[in-house]
Amino acid sequence: MSGNELREAYLRFFAEKKAHLRLASASLIPENDPTLLIIGAGMAPFKPFFTGKMKPPCTRITTSQRCVRTGDIENVGRTARHQTFFEMLGNFSFGDYFKQEAISWAWEFLTEVVELPKDKLWASVYPDDEEAIAIWLKQPGFAQDHIVKLEDNFWEIGEGPCGPDSEIYIDLGEERGCGKETCAVGCDCDRYLEIWNLVFTQYNRTGDGEYLPLEHKNIDTGCGLERLASVVQAKKTNFETDLLYPIIEYAAGIAGVAYGKDVETDISLKVIADHARSMAIMIMDGILPSNEGRGYVLRRILRRAIRHARLLGIQGKFLEGVVNSVISIFKDASDFGAIVQKEAYIKKVISQEEDRFHQTLSQGMELLNEEIKKLKDSKKTTLDGKAVFKLYDTFGFPWELTEEILEEEHFSLDKEGFEAAMKAQRERARAARGENQRVTVPDLSGIDTASLQQDSKATHAEIVAIWKEGILVDTLADGEEAGIILSVTPFYAEGGGQVGDAGHFTGEFGKVCIDNAKRLPDGTIYHLGYVEEGQLKVGESVSIQIDQEKKRSSARNHTATHLLQAALKKVVGDQVNQAGSLVTPERLRFDFSNFEPLTEEQLKSVEDMVNEEILKGTEVTIRQMKIDDAKAIGAMALFGEKYGDIVRVVSVGDFSVELCGGSHVRDVGLIGSLKIISETGVAAGVRRIEAITGRAALAYANKQEELVCSLARILKCQKEDIATHVTDLQTNLKDTQKKLAAFQASQAKDEVENLLSAADTINGVTFVGGKVTSEGVDDLRKMADLVIDKLSNGVVVLASAQDGKAILVAKAGKDALDKGIHAGNVVKAAAKAVNGGGGGRKDMAQAGGNDPDKIDEAIKAAKEEVQKQIG
Ligand code: ALA
Repeated sequence: MSGNELREAYLRFFAEKKAHLRLASASLIPENDPTLLIIGAGMAPFKPFFTGKMKPPCTRITTSQRCVRTGDIENVGRTARHQTFFEMLGNFSFGDYFKQEAISWAWEFLTEVVELPKDKLWASVYPDDEEAIAIWLKQPGFAQDHIVKLEDNFWEIGEGPCGPDSEIYIDLGEERGCGKETCAVGCDCDRYLEIWNLVFTQYNRTGDGEYLPLEHKNIDTGCGLERLASVVQAKKTNFETDLLYPIIEYAAGIAGVAYGKDVETDISLKVIADHARSMAIMIMDGILPSNEGRGYVLRRILRRAIRHARLLGIQGKFLEGVVNSVISIFKDASDFGAIVQKEAYIKKVISQEEDRFHQTLSQGMELLNEEIKKLKDSKKTTLDGKAVFKLYDTFGFPWELTEEILEEEHFSLDKEGFEAAMKAQRERARAARGENQRVTVPDLSGIDTASLQQDSKATHAEIVAIWKEGILVDTLADGEEAGIILSVTPFYAEGGGQVGDAGHFTGEFGKVCIDNAKRLPDGTIYHLGYVEEGQLKVGESVSIQIDQEKKRSSARNHTATHLLQAALKKVVGDQVNQAGSLVTPERLRFDFSNFEPLTEEQLKSVEDMVNEEILKGTEVTIRQMKIDDAKAIGAMALFGEKYGDIVRVVSVGDFSVELCGGSHVRDVGLIGSLKIISETGVAAGVRRIEAITGRAALAYANKQEELVCSLARILKCQKEDIATHVTDLQTNLKDTQKKLAAFQASQAKDEVENLLSAADTINGVTFVGGKVTSEGVDDLRKMADLVIDKLSNGVVVLASAQDGKAILVAKAGKDALDKGIHAGNVVKAAAKAVNGGGGGRKDMAQAGGNDPDKIDEAIKAAKEEVQKQIG
């Protein structure tokens, strides 16, 4: 049986004999499933049917699903069975049949339709699944000792439906095995080939890693078409089946090598065969090369194939030819019709990407070889992240490719360093975008700007000009920042205080994300963005998508700005005039002339008045009229602004009439509500109001509510009682503070009295020294003053322990000074005892130390020093 016949036989068996609905393979791009990058299993498109979120069109479905998995990419070509692209034959039950049927139908298909030898088949089960074992043992002709329990027989794919499984293996004979004594079902070698996995889907794994039982029991099976074909066609590897071999033949021909003679050559040929299928089908399904997500998977596969072609000695471009062999394999297969229709497209995308990589591959390899040599010379084992990043950024080497090449030479790479360099570059790019460094507009005199049009309804346009860093170019590739001019644009260009529209342009081979549109002095609108995936070029036609949500948010804020200005005039007075305005999708900022800050009441009246207007839901009318007519109806215009003869007048009933070119809502009700966030001064006589509307106002209210709730929780009271509660707390706090201060004062007094009563006299000078409680050095100094005052003379040395440290203060009165005392030296001597230092003037000094336990010794040392100085 050919691969196509095998696919057909499977689908027919389940559709015709077992009443399954036969569906076409889904695209490799998952639909509505952000948890998956690419479809990698037959069940993936059916997740909502398993979980019960959606009702399936039939409770039994069968498909041959195209899949891409890159987890084992480095094994491709090294084993008989690993591939990145493969087809998974599957039969699914959504709350219909369960283990009994799943097992016996698989057995029936394998032994009766495909006629595999029964005595070579094995089954593995999840260790406690006695039910599955019992079913297996009942299958006609099943060898009773061909069943094993494997702990890893549990199938899951991140979040989603999962469960224990039972796998079917075929024993391909000892000669295909690793020869180890332990070789058995489940061994990594090529002897026991897993051909089918039957999953008894009973759980749903949540994002938190919990396994919740599903309402119904389900079946999800996956049988690798290429593996089955290798068995049926008696080939040693999947690569020799008719599903892959034509590609190997072609590539071997181009390279002038023979398949089956040399292990390394065979690996490269197999990599090319596998990757060629992956890239062609990925592109067929709408994936374009890029540096992110699916596009990156495609790029990595494509560039890896090119590198293996180099290893085979193929120098020039060759992938387009390889695509022909891929097409010859799939052209008659069901579900692959698009590959023929899209032939030219697929080849073009591959060729563009091949061109790009070829331009830098040799230089990149040269650099990498130099780096490898340096590693060898310096006996290092790891290539640093900066070099890996340079290979990635300048030469287009996916880091995984660099890693593989290094591994071949037994080196590794510094992934963290690479990621840090990558992050730094992203931040630089973001900053540059923020500062709009890329907006240097080149000389456009060669472009017929007069023929460019604006049309708010335009959905398609031709790319008229592209520039990169101020230089006109013909093409743009993914990741590049660009300025773009279209033949016709529906984009609103930055102006009148409102930021430009954002959106996307999608061409046949690429997609660019536009984050702003601006206008040149002659009126030409240009767009600023970066290419998300693929390539774009001058002259091609693109479809245009405006980010409507952002546009609506800007419109809400713009109309609200008009209402705000009108309300300010009514509440504050006619002297309020616009001095500046900024409208973004996130908020509005309105600057106006006024000398005083607005009072709280004024602000509240303004906000209330605007919200009253919003609630009226008045229609916003936009009219073109002569400037004189506009003035006659009292339209507000900006002082000093030049207007043409015909102006655009935006009015909200009689409440607001303004000359304006910006985006507005249809009726003011759509603003939702307005919330003033701040009122500040920006310059003499100019005030600024910042406000939000729509969703932002709602989110703000919700956040305030959360804040109030959390306060109520902390204070353990009702929300309404927070104010009383806090006032009570403040009163309490003040009382307590007062009491504490009084207590401390009396305590200090007591301590001072005690010290005084224990005073000594040294050569006629009173010495007071001791440990006290204090709140810090200031406090200590105050106490020392108190003692000196009491004594009217003498020497005092006080110390206290504070936060694990000792603090010391020494002070000398006049009589002591006359006798030659030096407080600085006294404190210095004392500080030594507490493992510290300090000093100061003759009459007053302080010090600190790390050993508060030795304060008594410090006082003793101080006294000795005094004795030394004047004794
Ligand atoms: N979903 C199962 C697998 O991919 C059948 O192995």
